[in-house]
Amino acid sequence: MPTSFPPRCDRTEAWTELRAHFERSGRRFDVRQAFANDPRRFDALGVEAPEVFADLSKNLLDADALALLLALARECRIEARRDAMLAGEPINATEGRAVLHTALRAPRGAGPHSAQVHEVLDAMLAYAERVRDSATSGIRDIVHIGIGGSDLGPQMAVLALQERAHPAIRSHFVSNVDAHDIARVLRRLDVKSTLFIVASKTFTTQETLTNARIAKDWFVAQGGRGIASHFVALTTNVKAAAEFGIDTTFPFWDWVGGRYSLWSAIGLPIAIALGADDFRCLLAGAHAMDRHLATAPAARNLPLLLGLLDVWYRNFHGFATRCVAPYHQGLARLPAYLQQLEMESNGKRVDVAGEPLPHATSGVIWGEPGTNGQHAFFQMLHQGTDVVPVEFILVRRAAHDFADSQAKLLANGLAQAQALMLGKTAEQALHERVPTAAPDIDPAVLARHRSFPGNRPSTTLLLDRLTPRSLGALIALYEHRVFVAGALWGINSFDQWGVELGKAMANDLLPRLASGDTAGLDASTAGLLTRLRAA
Ligand code: F6P
Repeated sequence: MPTSFPPRCDRTEAWTELRAHFERSGRRFDVRQAFANDPRRFDALGVEAPEVFADLSKNLLDADALALLLALARECRIEARRDAMLAGEPINATEGRAVLHTALRAPRGAGPHSAQVHEVLDAMLAYAERVRDSATSGIRDIVHIGIGGSDLGPQMAVLALQERAHPAIRSHFVSNVDAHDIARVLRRLDVKSTLFIVASKTFTTQETLTNARIAKDWFVAQGGRGIASHFVALTTNVKAAAEFGIDTTFPFWDWVGGRYSLWSAIGLPIAIALGADDFRCLLAGAHAMDRHLATAPAARNLPLLLGLLDVWYRNFHGFATRCVAPYHQGLARLPAYLQQLEMESNGKRVDVAGEPLPHATSGVIWGEPGTNGQHAFFQMLHQGTDVVPVEFILVRRAAHDFADSQAKLLANGLAQAQALMLGKTAEQALHERVPTAAPDIDPAVLARHRSFPGNRPSTTLLLDRLTPRSLGALIALYEHRVFVAGALWGINSFDQWGVELGKAMANDLLPRLASGDTAGLDASTAGLLTRLRAA
């Protein structure tokens, strides 16, 4: 392996020791017993980070495992890799690029590329404020057209902070090349009061360009005048945006990954919805978490600990998925956002040197807001055959005045984490009255159905309120956790070659759908294509 690549997790002594520890006791670790043995467990495994308190105590983790995981981080030289990222070294080696989303939220003069970052930020926020002055701008509807990283972040953030959004401007998000998506939005618009934002890092993405063309054609067909005041582009490819016919452009740079771009000009819909001050607070929250990553000691460094926990669960316990359960309706799109962030970043099967990996990388991230998820898939989390670590996100204070609902929401979130951990024995179940049970069922059989294994791990992330600042910190926390896990696994978390094959094949199949040409196709694709063309 070239010396420029730091040690991979599986080539360290700590890895071997972790394996031995897992076989010795980690596999049979019982968190209930751990609490019984250590009354200080909650304090020891409660971690304060900016805007976020994390309770790690319900995880399948003892002091020895934690010490070995921290040793793993040291052997993999995570701190040096973090510093390389923050300094703008080209750690995205396959694309020869720096990874500098942190520079986008650094205060003026404090980070790399500060002058250009703040020049665009100032211009973008001034533009957002002009649009927000709806009496003068005349804008009532914003249609943000983008996909993946150019959509998920802004969409998630605008929904999360909806209570603070401009009351007279509606935000719409269109991403899918399935035109049902844009059609449902266009039906609701008035051409004179609509602003289309075309967001694409590359300005070559099929879905976004197709939807942007539909929007432009609709605009002209509706008698719209002045593309310059009704279309704006957010892109690194200013030339392509101009060729498309959009002159108002806010640029960003190739050192901003798509899934890390909501802090850049891609955040314009957030700035329009919330205003410049709130957008700056979002950046400030993320920056505070950046500083935490950069300076907190390893044992209290939350992104580091979460990344280590991900490796512990994925590579030792063999857990293949992680459920994200935000107990806040505003965070409904957070799981979708995290799916791209984590799975596009760390869903890799070769290391930075291109060597096939002997260990698993990204698991499946999924979830739904609580309490909805409780009435859907939590059955499986409690009694299914797979163990799924759950991440509860609880927000202490609501943005509404319905105190009773908020108390019920929090009680439910707490209870689910508690129930996953404590479980219920068949013996306990045997002594319960169950009016809904079949009258003639054997009580011992019923008790087995009604028992819960418990010892199912969860992490609780606690926010005081969902604000621009706390949301910024929360997202940055996830970004850095993904960086840590990817660095331990030895992969490049910042490329995404895996999305290309399907794109190329779609380009090949598109004309075949029209012509019916199936030459050279596999039999399944040919058969389906023929059926799709059938009258
Ligand atoms: O196909 C995946 C991807 O390249 C993502 O990484 C990216 O966020 C998304 O497509 C959109 O790309 P663009 O912003 O260039 O349109």
